[in-house]
Formats: sequence, structure tokens, C-alpha cells
Amino acid sequence: MATSERPVILAVADTASSLPDTFLVRQATPADAEALAVLGRTVGSEAEGWLITDRTWRSTSDERRYLKSLRRYAHAAVFVAEAPEGIVGRLSIARDPHPASSHVADLGLMVAAGRRRQGVGTALMAEATKWALAAGVRKLELHVFPHNEAAIALYEKLGWRREGYRKEHYRRGDGYVDAILMARDLN
Ligand SMILES: CC(C)(COP(=O)(O)OP(=O)(O)OC[C@H]1O[C@@H](n2cnc3c(N)ncnc32)[C@H](O)[C@@H]1OP(=O)(O)O)[C@@H](O)C(=O)NCCC(=O)NCCS
Repeated sequence: MATSERPVILAVADTASSLPDTFLVRQATPADAEALAVLGRTVGSEAEGWLITDRTWRSTSDERRYLKSLRRYAHAAVFVAEAPEGIVGRLSIARDPHPASSHVADLGLMVAAGRRRQGVGTALMAEATKWALAAGVRKLELHVFPHNEAAIALYEKLGWRREGYRKEHYRRGDGYVDAILMARDLN
């Protein structure tokens, strides 16, 4: 599979004057495990409940193990956005393991609260799309909670469509929450 390890340098609008205005997007390495575990726990702990995995985000060692496993597994990838202050975004993508739907890949995305609305999510999605096209993926999909207006706005801006509504699809605390299934064709 032709995947680009070359980082992409991006200039973004400096909406917070104290923040440097550049970040790069690259594939994650095992050395990013700790920063990614912290990012996952931090975003997962936000009161709004954006992520399917909330406070129970995987440990640094599990994250490192997963990132190492990707070296030998061509059907999934993790991309990070790196700014001068550290890792500020993560996108993971994995194609469906079933041969009948191996043209479909599922993705998950998060951006650090202090770096939102600066193009980080868009840049990660662009890299994931390149990876998916190179991997022969024809369709991208994801689940998003109905209250996550920011994420839905991002996906719809990038041409994703709402493909289904999953009632009580995920466990959250003592109850269950609905999810919107969104998809985008690649071709
Ligand atoms: C959803 C998320 C990934 C968006 O990332 P981001 O880096 O802020 O997105 P971008 O800056 O690339 O935004 C691109 C476009 O998406 C839309 N968008 C993003 N955030 C928005 C918001 N809060 N309200 C309305 N539209 C929004 C806008 O159209 C925006 O373009 P604009 O800024 O030119 O108006 C980010 O808010 C996040 O990590 N949230 C918490 C975790 C999460 O919800 N993950 C997704 C789970 S499905």
C-alpha cells in the first residue's frame, strides 16, 4: 500500500493570537503513544460526551502496542496533527475486516479543545482520504452523536451524508445513546 510518511506542513489562520499558526499532519509512531493517550482521555472527559470511548480511553501501553501493530498491518492507520505545543489532533482509520465490505473504512477524529476551528480536523480528514484512496477504499463511514453539531457541520462541509440513525447504539454510563451513521463515497 502506498502511504505517505512525509509530513504535510499546513498554514492555518491564527485565531488565538498566543498560538503559533502552523501545524503538521503525519502518520503516528509508537513514540506518540503517551501524547495520544492524554489527548484521548482529555477529549473523552469533556462534559459534552463527544466520543464513543469516554474516560476509559486506552492506556499509553495499549496505545503504543496498537501503533506498533500498525507497522505490520496495512489496513489501518493513525494520523496526528502536531503543533509546537505537541499533538493536538488524532484521526484513526481502519478498513472493515470482512472481505465483502473491505472497501469500507471507519474513522474516528478528535482535536484538542484549544486547537479547534483552525483547520486541524479538515487537514486530518484530507490525509485520511488520501490514505484511503491509496488503499483502495471506496467508502468512508463513521458514527457521530446527534448533539455533536461541530462534528456534523465538519463532515457535511466535506461532503459526507447522513446514512442512517442508530437508536440506543452505544452504552453511556447507565444508559444508551443514539448515533448518526454518516458516510462518504470515494471515487
Ligand atoms: C469535530 C472536530 C473534530 C472538528 O475539528 P476542527 O479542527 O475544529 O475542525 P475545522 O477547524 O477543520 O472545521 C472545519 C469546518 O467544520 C465546521 N465546524 C467545525 N467546528 C464547528 C463548530 N463548533 N460549529 C459549527 N461548525 C463547525 C465549520 O464549517 C468549519 O469551517 P469554518 O471554521 O471555516 O467555518 C472538533 O470539534 C473536535 O475534536 N471535537 C471533539 C471531539 C469530537 O467531537 N470528535 C468527533 C467525534 S464523531
